[in-house]
Amino acid sequence: MQSMSDYYSAIQLRSDRWSALQDITKKLASNPKGSSAAKLHGKTEELLDMLGPLESYWAFPGTAAFDYLRRQCDHKNYDDLAFSVRRILRALTSGAYRRRSIPLDRDDTDNEELEDEALLSPEARALTKPYFEVLFVDNISEQQDRWLRSSIQRMHRTEDAFTYQPVIVPSLEDALIAILFNHNIQAVVVRPGVTLKSKNELSILQRYLSRIGDDEDVDGLQPENYGAELCRLIAKVRPELDTYLVTDRSVESIAGLDLGLCRRVFYNQEDFLELHLNILRGVQARFKTPFFTALVEYSRQPTGVFHAMPISRGKSISRSHWIQDMGAFYGPNIFLAETSATSGGLDSLLEPHGPIKEAQELAARAFGAKHTFFATNGTSTCNKVVVQGLVRPGDIVLVDRDCHKSHHYGMVLAGAQVVYLDSYPLNEYSMYGAVPLREIKHQLLKLKAAGKLDRVRMLLLTNCTFDGVGYNVERVM
Ligand SMILES: Cc1ncc(COP(=O)(O)O)c(C=O)c1O
Repeated sequence: MQSMSDYYSAIQLRSDRWSALQDITKKLASNPKGSSAAKLHGKTEELLDMLGPLESYWAFPGTAAFDYLRRQCDHKNYDDLAFSVRRILRALTSGAYRRRSIPLDRDDTDNEELEDEALLSPEARALTKPYFEVLFVDNISEQQDRWLRSSIQRMHRTEDAFTYQPVIVPSLEDALIAILFNHNIQAVVVRPGVTLKSKNELSILQRYLSRIGDDEDVDGLQPENYGAELCRLIAKVRPELDTYLVTDRSVESIAGLDLGLCRRVFYNQEDFLELHLNILRGVQARFKTPFFTALVEYSRQPTGVFHAMPISRGKSISRSHWIQDMGAFYGPNIFLAETSATSGGLDSLLEPHGPIKEAQELAARAFGAKHTFFATNGTSTCNKVVVQGLVRPGDIVLVDRDCHKSHHYGMVLAGAQVVYLDSYPLNEYSMYGAVPLREIKHQLLKLKAAGKLDRVRMLLLTNCTFDGVGYNVERVM
């Protein structure tokens, strides 16, 4: 088993541990009385211990299911254990847990398991409700946990546009770990019982806490301020999330606090329907696709087009006696959705004021950027735009020799003075690695000695490289 320190990402660690658990439980089930059974049993327990703290941040398979696996292991029901682990791993890999509940008991037939999820048609996929997870932060007893889960479950209605499942964690630190580790989380409900410290000591998870920055000192906080502070920190690390604060404090004492991007404060109330509707509405607002929606609408309109006539809206294809196969390959929508600023179609990319503007503003909010601009000319043009936007003629730029050629063109257009950086060779694989830190420092020191350090404007690397080598980004930055 690989040591945990070999992992950069908790996501990768989680998925590897589940795969290892599947392998070991399969071996145990096939030979439960064999000479290596005791050793395999020990390894299974070790893996379950390892996975337990990771799983507390995910809705699926969830703590109840995880306890069930532990019981199967304690009782040496290896067949059942191997079966449940296999089913969980399949659902995690295919994403089936997002579409339906996954029974773990062998007596429960999972009819749909036979249908390979990967073979679902795009149309069938488009019809399933999008799924997300909602983080509840509250230090509650097991009994309260059950009550909270059933209260949330009762709110779900068939007419809801989305489905969600809760993840419940006790503390501010756990909440910050959860939102960075679990990308399914789309909304956070901070409740009155939130505590400060996580009891989870896995260093790979604790590492997430360093993302909130050294300037944030939460240790000196008063407990009554944990909730408000958490709202503020969430806005800092994942600004796109919808945050709700449930508090038993008075309006006056909350009013002056910085709550980040908190959408709504619930004072002293457990109105789950109201909360449920807010959560759905919040996600619905972010699910808005102004440009795509306008495009679909536009494609349905009968439109007279008087420019570039032979090709517009696919007529040259649909009326051709020869290239019907091309029309069949792409389908009609791609041609009906053809739009042009010249013919007053939807909006102008160069001077947006309609759906493109709205879509760019929403994208900027999602990325936490001041502005986002869409481009239709591919990444090459975007790279040139960025380079020309940042680099002035005569600026010195350190460029990885293996960067995509668009960067080099960008340098020419910007009039930059380029210092090329060499990557290290990986002779045994006949390929190149990345640019070593040593090389970057060496070039910078050379420029310093020449008195040109103040002219260095940019360092341009490609992560991962074209041969698939990734940098330790934090270290290089
Ligand atoms: C790292 C990198 N940059 C830029 C590009 C250029 O993308 P486009 O073909 O969209 O211009 C690519 C495409 O392969 C790329 O891999």
